[in-house]
Parts: sequence; C-alpha cells; structure tokens
Amino acid sequence: METKIVPIKEENLDKSALEEAGKVIKKGGLVAFPTETVYGLGGNALDEAAAGKIYRAKGRPSDNPLIVHICRLEDIYPIVKEVPEAALKLADAFWPGPLTMILRKSDKVPYATTGGLDTVAVRMPGHKTALAFIGAAGGYVAAPSANTSGKPSPTLAKYVTEDLGGRIDMIIDGGRIAIGLESTIVDLTETVPVILRPGYITKEMLEKVLGYVETDKTILDDDAGQAPKAPGMKYKHYAPKGELTIISGSRENVIEAINQKSREMEEKGKKVGIIGTDDTIAFYRADVVKSAGSREKEDTIASALYRILREFDDEGVDVIYSESFEESAKAGGIGQAIMNRLLKAAGHHMERV
Ligand code: TXA
Ligand code: MG
Repeated sequence: METKIVPIKEENLDKSALEEAGKVIKKGGLVAFPTETVYGLGGNALDEAAAGKIYRAKGRPSDNPLIVHICRLEDIYPIVKEVPEAALKLADAFWPGPLTMILRKSDKVPYATTGGLDTVAVRMPGHKTALAFIGAAGGYVAAPSANTSGKPSPTLAKYVTEDLGGRIDMIIDGGRIAIGLESTIVDLTETVPVILRPGYITKEMLEKVLGYVETDKTILDDDAGQAPKAPGMKYKHYAPKGELTIISGSRENVIEAINQKSREMEEKGKKVGIIGTDDTIAFYRADVVKSAGSREKEDTIASALYRILREFDDEGVDVIYSESFEESAKAGGIGQAIMNRLLKAAGHHMERV
C-alpha cells in the first residue's frame, strides 16, 4: 500500500485535507496524526475491523487496549456506562489536553478496541489538527502511539514513516511534537483514582482537582510483585537497539563511572552512546554524546528523550549509558514520567555509583 503524506499546520488548518483524512477513517482505513504528546495511529474506534488493522500495522499484541480519542465532551456519554463526577472535574481542568481517563465502557465500544476489557480509555487531545481530524473522522478515533510495537513513540512524522510507511493509508505531518511523552492515564473505575501511567499532568495537578490520588505501584518499581493495571505497561517498551544502562549517583561519580564504562566498552570494539544533560555533556568522552536537555527545564528533557533514543538506533550505537533522573522523579513533576519511560527503555537496568 502506498502511504500518502499530508502536511497540515496547526496554525492554518487545511479543511479539505482534513476532510480527506476523515474519509479514510470512515471507510475503515488508518491515518497517523499529530497530538500534543506523540503521533497517534488512528482508526475508527467503533469498528472492530479497524481496531484489528491497528494491531497488525503496529505488530502489537491484541490484549493491549487502545485509547479512544474524542473532540467534544458530550461525545463521551455514548461510549461509557456512566460519567462520574471526578471525570467531569478532570475534563473541566485538563481537556483538551494530555490526560486519558479509564471509565466503564458501553456496548457501543467493541471489545476489539478495549483488548477484551469492560473499561475504555478516553482522551480529548490538546492539538488543533488532532481535534479537527477526529471531528472529520466521525468523532471516535482509536489511537495508540504511531510506532512499531516496542519502539519509542514518534515525536516527528519521519519516525512514523520509518515504522509504518507502506502499512497505513495516510500520515498527517504536523511537525515536531511539543510534549514528547504519552498522556497521563488515570483509572476512575475504582473508589480512589489511580494513576496507571505518569505524564505531563502530574499527581499534584490531579490532586488539586480531586483530593487524594494513588499511583499504581508498578510504575517505577519493577519488583512490585503485581501485574500493571494498564496492560501496555507490562511490555518492554520504548527500547532502543543499543543496550541501555542508567547510572545513578552524585554528579561527579556518574560522570566518572560513565566515562570509565564507555572506555572499557570502546576497547572491546563497541560503539558507545551517552545521554547527558546540558551542563554535563562537555565532560563526557565517547563516540556519540547527546544532551537530553536542561535539568532546570525538565520539559526539554521530556520532549527530546524519544528522539535521542531513535537517533542512537540510526547511528548504530551498541551500548548506551544515561544519567538518571531519579531525584527529579522523587520531586514530582514531569520527572516521574521521564524516569518511568527511561527505566522501561533500559529494561529496568540501573546501576548506583
Ligand atoms: O498520549 C497518548 O496517550 C498517545 C496519543 C496518541 O494519544 N497514545 C498512546 O497510546 O500512548 P498507547 O496505545 O501507546 O498507550 C495506551 C496505554 C497502554 O499502556 C494501554 O494498556 C493503556 O493505555 N490502556 C488503554 N485502555 C486501557 C484500559 N481500558 N484499562 C487500562 N489501561 C488501558
Ligand atoms: Mg505506545
């Protein structure tokens, strides 16, 4: 299949291109589109066959449910059993935006979309192109991140083309994505709201609106001894081809340890990549040294992380050492999402020095 690539600017929405993309979805096809978090791979959420196509295009296990994207709050009512007070409060505070809510599904949503679950993930993205596209597509777009299963989520359209070119009907190229990490997922089906995946909307922000919010124990800890509640979180994710290890400790110890490990690996003939930060990269010696951004501005690190992991793949790096963002994860904020994704990319391989 030939994949049509259509550039659409958020500041200047091309109505006829959006209509065309919407028609593809209505006919049962697949369209990748930009959101404020990462690119999504969209299909009609109410069509079993389209959900099947999404799983096949990504090479994704079909027990891993999809997020249903909507563009108007009222569209939530037909797809869920009930809309709890908490959901309305969160929608009011954070939608459109990088927050996904888990609710009990209605019969309108096929089990193919929810991976067999009686619950459904719903999100209204904060990106003008995404909202207009969802509207043109009939209002309900199921979309996982637009990467091949196991690869970092795409933050540029060229990565979508690399992974899914020839396998889907269309890619809407909206340029570089602002946030760079997937939405926060909060489960509202239990008595207490539970964060299943950390993201740009933090625990503190949710608690301001809802009072007490729990965090699923499996998020930062590999040994929690229980299965993650978001089925997708159990798979090894976001993995670069090179073997990634996170090195944690004081700034001086980390720099020294990473340089020493890099030297040892290079002596063995391995190509080494290092992930540092703006104020440390000058101290590293290796084949490829990259800054994830500034520790003072964690948003820069969130938005660069997946791109950097993919660049290391392109450069054929065998081994990667990364600084840790553990301290900022403890402090709250987006640091928790950064550390969560980095730990997954490393298969939880972390050394303390
Ligand atoms: O930012 C995002 O959320 C992006 C953009 C495209 O919107 N989408 C995204 O989708 O990250 P995906 O499929 O890559 O991740 C969805 C996660 C998976 O871990 C999945 O297991 C979980 O959401 N999930 C979906 N439905 C669920 C449900 N009913 N109960 C629990 N977890 C669910
Ligand atoms: Mg994904």
